[in-house]
Amino acid sequence: MKTIFITGGAGFIGSHVVRRFVNNYPDYQIVVIDCLTYAGNLENLKDVDSKPNYKFEKVDITDEKAVNDVFARYQPDGVIHLAAESHVDRSITDPFAFIRTNVMGTCNLLQAARTLWNGNWEGKRFYHISTDEVYGALSKTDPMFTETTRYAPHSPYSASKASSDHFVRAFHDTYGMPTVISNCSNNYGSHHFPEKLIPLAINNIQHNRPIPIYGKGENVRDWLFVDDHAAAIDLIFHKGKIGDTYNIGGNNEKTNIELIRTLCRLMDKKLGREQGTSEKLITFVTDRAGHDLRYAIDSSKLQRELGWQPSVTFEQGLEKTVDWYLANQDWLDNVTSGAYQQYYDKMYTNR
Ligand code: NAD
Ligand code: DAU
Repeated sequence: MKTIFITGGAGFIGSHVVRRFVNNYPDYQIVVIDCLTYAGNLENLKDVDSKPNYKFEKVDITDEKAVNDVFARYQPDGVIHLAAESHVDRSITDPFAFIRTNVMGTCNLLQAARTLWNGNWEGKRFYHISTDEVYGALSKTDPMFTETTRYAPHSPYSASKASSDHFVRAFHDTYGMPTVISNCSNNYGSHHFPEKLIPLAINNIQHNRPIPIYGKGENVRDWLFVDDHAAAIDLIFHKGKIGDTYNIGGNNEKTNIELIRTLCRLMDKKLGREQGTSEKLITFVTDRAGHDLRYAIDSSKLQRELGWQPSVTFEQGLEKTVDWYLANQDWLDNVTSGAYQQYYDKMYTNR
């Protein structure tokens, strides 16, 4: 039996990856490493938590001793590293939380794996999940990001992710650790914390609250359905070339305003409201500081070399997402109560 650590497994993307691995690989022991920040929620894993090949360990990756201890106890063969502070707006308010988790936390994991594996790399793999934001911002007409695009992060979040990518490469180049990295575009789907654009807008539309659009809504993101990201992670973990990097993207570039208008029409239909009702909630607010204009990612290497293809169109994925939120009001109510509500009120009052 192989033991695989999935860090950040209680978060949005991590929970989809855990579900896939627990269900598809009964011979693997899947151990979720997560300290359950506001973004981590064991509810996200309740459909797999009684499976015999699933384990959960509440570990903060910034705690070097706790990380070393959990590596010593389980002796993992592989690490799929998703744990991170992931929200750009929070990184603008508190950059050090991002440095601690995304940089120091990643280094703690790398060092613990290096100590455990001790140069015996056979059958071992450290897979780091990163973001397209490390490449910076594109103009409206620039070609898409490829794996060789120069790193040029702008936000404290993307700078911390870029830094962690550099450390992962350094452990490969210096010590020979079998690492692989992927850089993905914006994900959407179920279990997405409602501070990010799509789930935030779904939640606000349901409650007839304003939908805050930063600036003029002209910024472009490339949207990928989360299950397709999990499928790419599965492929790269098993077949990706050691020391290599793969871009993952949906080839679905949308301006924020175009995306929100599509979502409003869909929500009106689903909620039985007259068309045009939800669009009235759109409210233009002060722009994000250093707001990257456009991300677009070329995933042709992954398609060509490993045969990955997204399985749903944006319209299909968005409808699945909306249906999940409408059927899981308890989940939304739960994660938006208490501390998150205070954060939200602070972020958006007088913005
Ligand atoms: P998320 O914020 O939903 O989840 C992050 C998870 O990490 C949570 O379960 C949280 O509890 C855990 N975590 C945070 N700090 C921790 C710590 N110090 N110790 C242990 N656990 C900790 O994030 P997400 O959107 O699912 O993103 C997952 C990963 O994918 C991140 O590395 C992110 O940079 C990357 N990524 C995200 C996207 C996206 O669109 N969401 C796109 C590309 C890459
Ligand atoms: O590109 C991958 C990245 O995508 C991931 O690495 C990050 O973890 C993830 O959070 C996401 O970053 P973004 O900043 O692109 O996502 P967010 O949902 O915060 O914002 C998407 C766009 O919508 C962005 O242009 C900012 C804008 N926006 C966002 C919010 C929350 C709004 O206009 N209003 C909002 O209320």
